[in-house]
Amino acid sequence: MSTIKQDDATARAYPLPNDSIIETRRLDAQHLVFSIRTGGLHRASFPNSSPAQVRDLGCGTGIWASQFAIDNPKSNVLGIDINPPLVDDAKINIRPPNCSFAVADIEQGWNFSSLKSDYIYMRMIMIAIKDWPGLLNKAFVNMNPGGQIEIFDGLMDIKADDGSTADNSAAIFWFQLSKEYLAKHHIAWDLSADIPQQLTDAGFEILQDNTLKMRLYPDSQDPESDRAWVATQYQKDIADIVHGMTKRMRIDLASRLSPEEWDTLESNARREILEESEQRGFHTTLYTSNFLSVLSPVKVYTY
Ligand SMILES: C[S@@+](CC[C@H](N)C(=O)[O-])C[C@H]1O[C@@H](n2cnc3c(N)ncnc32)[C@H](O)[C@@H]1O
Repeated sequence: MSTIKQDDATARAYPLPNDSIIETRRLDAQHLVFSIRTGGLHRASFPNSSPAQVRDLGCGTGIWASQFAIDNPKSNVLGIDINPPLVDDAKINIRPPNCSFAVADIEQGWNFSSLKSDYIYMRMIMIAIKDWPGLLNKAFVNMNPGGQIEIFDGLMDIKADDGSTADNSAAIFWFQLSKEYLAKHHIAWDLSADIPQQLTDAGFEILQDNTLKMRLYPDSQDPESDRAWVATQYQKDIADIVHGMTKRMRIDLASRLSPEEWDTLESNARREILEESEQRGFHTTLYTSNFLSVLSPVKVYTY
């Protein structure tokens, strides 16, 4: 698979690194966090048989696509990303035969086969997408009637139960700046606000639509419980996102802070998240369960 060279605009808009082992490990750990927290790999159900054609859009390391293919040997799973999957070489060898990967910009086009999709999965790609209605329309026309689409994402926001605000919390101030960055690139920070209507407009029928509170500190006294591990790991995940995104934010929002102030903000935001989450009651919101079935094709789109 060849690497698509991102043009400057694309590279600047998507704010996370796509060539670092820290990001690879973060994504694989995050996959486990979400799988344990939600009790499985997906929320869509397939009562009669596994979906034949599955697409994982913005598949990252390919960990979800590989796992889905292992669990559903009769499915043909295709993971698509603007970059080749970032994986350890060792893991490539254990990919199941019914799972493959392709490099493409999913906002441009991603139907590599004459076969339409039966299940489209998208996780944590909110900050990668500028035109959600356009992407959902493409999904609709590339889907068999009765197919399902599932979107799983995190709101780009942090809240504090102790009343901390951007005035006294570097972490909350950092998230405020991250929203400024996204607004500058016309990228949404809260999918839950618009996606249900956009999906309905595209022709989908809503099956489930939920949000889920994610604490950044364990709510269990048992340090060995799964819940404790999930919270602690998620805390690290968010601290790594702060590190990963700051590089692009400080270039695009250079007028907001001096280089020294950016250094201090990143370091203080990470420290608060890693050391003060319980005291401040930090939590984020996941948009977990927007599972939709395709109505019979009611629209014809040209694009
Ligand atoms: C935060 S990662 C999530 C990866 C994976 N879905 C997961 O949950 O582990 C977002 C992914 O979207 C990819 N991406 C960003 N812009 C894209 C685009 N226009 N087309 C396809 N993939 C894109 C990035 O390369 C990255 O792998």
